[in-house]
Amino acid sequence: NDPLRLGIAGLGTVGTGVVRIIRQKAALLSARAGRPVTISAVSARSRGKDRGVKLDDYAWEDDPVALAQRDDVDVFVELMGGHDGPAKDATEAAIAAGKDVVTANKALLAHHGHALALAAEDAGRVIRFEAAVAGGIPVIKALTEGLAGNDITRVMGVMNGTCNYILTRMQSAGLPYEEVFQEASDLGYLEADPQLDVGGIDAAHKLSLLAAIAFGTQVDFSAVQMEGIGAITIQDINHAADMGYRIKLLGVAQMTGRGLEQRMTPCLVPAASPLGQLEGGTNMVVLEGDNVEQIVLRGPGAGMGPTASAVMGDVMDIARGFRLPVFGQPAAGLEHAQAAGGSTP
Ligand code: NDP
Ligand code: HSE
Repeated sequence: NDPLRLGIAGLGTVGTGVVRIIRQKAALLSARAGRPVTISAVSARSRGKDRGVKLDDYAWEDDPVALAQRDDVDVFVELMGGHDGPAKDATEAAIAAGKDVVTANKALLAHHGHALALAAEDAGRVIRFEAAVAGGIPVIKALTEGLAGNDITRVMGVMNGTCNYILTRMQSAGLPYEEVFQEASDLGYLEADPQLDVGGIDAAHKLSLLAAIAFGTQVDFSAVQMEGIGAITIQDINHAADMGYRIKLLGVAQMTGRGLEQRMTPCLVPAASPLGQLEGGTNMVVLEGDNVEQIVLRGPGAGMGPTASAVMGDVMDIARGFRLPVFGQPAAGLEHAQAAGGSTP
């Protein structure tokens, strides 16, 4: 069978994780997909950097747009980050050149997800982004596949590993903010701009994507009511603990009579509850549907292995020919949901 040939743009925490999996598990992936999964070419900013993985088997492109347009690339894997600039340009170029796209970039999708999904649909291609929400937890698959027979009533959870890591380490280890921030950085959890994490923006990006998938609306990041953890002090955390609570950056999306409500804010949760006991970079997503009542998914929300695992889940779907569009409905459906007031005014 013909191999599925990848072009990978971005060789940082997630990109090198993906290269590692493909190199270490080539036989397993090939057996599971029924065809080899190979890398044709890669791209990053600095060609000479030692990334701890062997890259000289692959062609190098300085320009991610050129990578996205290569004839020997079937799937463009975007792992650079940023909601505009090279990530957007190269993703658009890939779709225009007839490639499928896999990305971990929630910022890109929160800002341009609808337009990119429509472009992909018009071109007969798919854009998949399991890794963009809750790291290693296959929450998008759960919503689009396993829960397809439900009306989703609410989506909520802890969706930023960095914030959960900072809040829990400050409390349990009694460490100062600067030290736990550095630990999160060493673990590969942080966005290139960490203000996206501590400002609640990254988690809000994720919530807006889950909400659009769950409720069949257009991605509406600008409507998320958000507040980060920047103003929370160790005294706040300790006072909460004394009262039997933990502080969590918690997101909730639900459909109300006034449209879609999306909130990402620090909340007090009982220390003994499953959410209260969530430690470190772990994420928890709660999905509620009319038939299942409640499903709770818990797992690593950031870092190399978990995120690369989610990227590979999407790559393997494409290799196997599973081409369900993630935003569910065809374009007409999306437009209809928006016109019907599915999004917060
Ligand atoms: P890193 O900062 O570790 O890596 C980014 C990579 O992109 C680097 O290799 C960098 O090159 C390359 N790059 C950046 N700008 C350009 C450019 N203009 N042209 C070519 N290459 C470029 O980021 P992560 O791996 O952590 O994150 C990648 C994506 O995955 C982001 O969208 C992030 O939000 C998302 N994500 C990350 C998770 C995590 O836990 N880290 C979890 C879930 C999603 P160079 O190395 O040469 O500087
Ligand atoms: N910076 C993100 C986090 C990475 O800490 O959750 C995973 O999306």
